[in-house]
Amino acid sequence: MTSHGTSPSPTAEGAPRPGGAGTLAGRTVSRIGYGAMQLERLRTDRGAAVALVRRAVELGVDHFDTAQFYGDGFVNEVLREALGAADDAVVVTKVGATPDSGGPLPLRLAQRPEELRADVEDNLRSLGTDRLAVVNLRRADAGPGLRAEGDQLVDLDDQLAVLTELRDEGKIGAIGLSAVTLDTLRRALPVGLACVQNSYSLVSRTDEDMLRLCTDEGIAWVPYFPLGGAFPGMPKVADESAVHSAARALGATPAQVGLAWLLHHAANVLLIPGTADPGHLEANIAVGRIALDGADIAALDAVPSRSADHVRLG
Ligand SMILES: NC(=O)c1ccc[n+]([C@@H]2O[C@H](COP(=O)([O-])OP(=O)(O)OC[C@H]3O[C@@H](n4cnc5c(N)ncnc54)[C@H](OP(=O)(O)O)[C@@H]3O)[C@@H](O)[C@H]2O)c1
Repeated sequence: MTSHGTSPSPTAEGAPRPGGAGTLAGRTVSRIGYGAMQLERLRTDRGAAVALVRRAVELGVDHFDTAQFYGDGFVNEVLREALGAADDAVVVTKVGATPDSGGPLPLRLAQRPEELRADVEDNLRSLGTDRLAVVNLRRADAGPGLRAEGDQLVDLDDQLAVLTELRDEGKIGAIGLSAVTLDTLRRALPVGLACVQNSYSLVSRTDEDMLRLCTDEGIAWVPYFPLGGAFPGMPKVADESAVHSAARALGATPAQVGLAWLLHHAANVLLIPGTADPGHLEANIAVGRIALDGADIAALDAVPSRSADHVRLG
């Protein structure tokens, strides 16, 4: 499905593909993409947010992860402003939650079929397109954060029914899943999935079985919190002494080692590290040039995995 290293096919921007080439929803993308959630932090400096996205494109990124609820539309609007048709980027969004400014957390679940449809329409509007390349159904079955209760406990089949309708209508190119269990993934396979986005990193590998199923099924595995996220209480890649040792030996940073391990770990992994810092963006995109040898891999594989499922975000 993927090839590691420099790809012979450059991006539409003419850049070599960082991390090599991967496949997402039938499209070739660079294996190192960009998770746009951290752009929320640049809300008061929209120019800097747009410049960060443009820099990512120049450096070969053509896969962006977003959501309408990131900054209540702000992040989608930044992507709309920064990306043009000539960039031919795959923008992946997610539905299943909505901003909740007065609530205990900045967002709440919005899992009901009519809420999913409304969320797709909102994404179409704010991204300025008539078709979303990939939409992840963001469940709350697994991973850190919210859990569904009451009328937010919605049957998977009812949710997939509305998403397949939207795909038939041409408003969605492909469907993915997020924050799901192995059982949910198995149940959804007949719909045809482009990707699965679960919380997963070198230090939090509870979902190894799901990753392997995705590899076997030709589904991209797109880990969120690939560095352990920005929230306190999450296991962080940079907290591990084995990661620091490898980083020193490789002349890399701990974050880069965590991302390089993910790229090496399975060929269907696509990365979407999040950052609002231009230096970190460059460092993350440079990870494709880091070669881990057998001893590096063995030392990193031996890092214990810690579940983050109990962590309440926010
Ligand atoms: N499907 C879902 O439910 C879901 C949930 C959460 C996130 N996501 C997506 O996944 C993406 C990635 O997750 P995330 O952004 O939450 O977490 P992450 O990528 O694991 O970590 C982001 C944190 O690491 C820092 N960082 C990034 N690059 C770094 C580097 N080279 N060196 C040191 N620190 C670095 C960032 O700070 P700086 O900004 O200072 O660099 C930020 O604090 C998100 O942006 C979002 O698009 C999806």
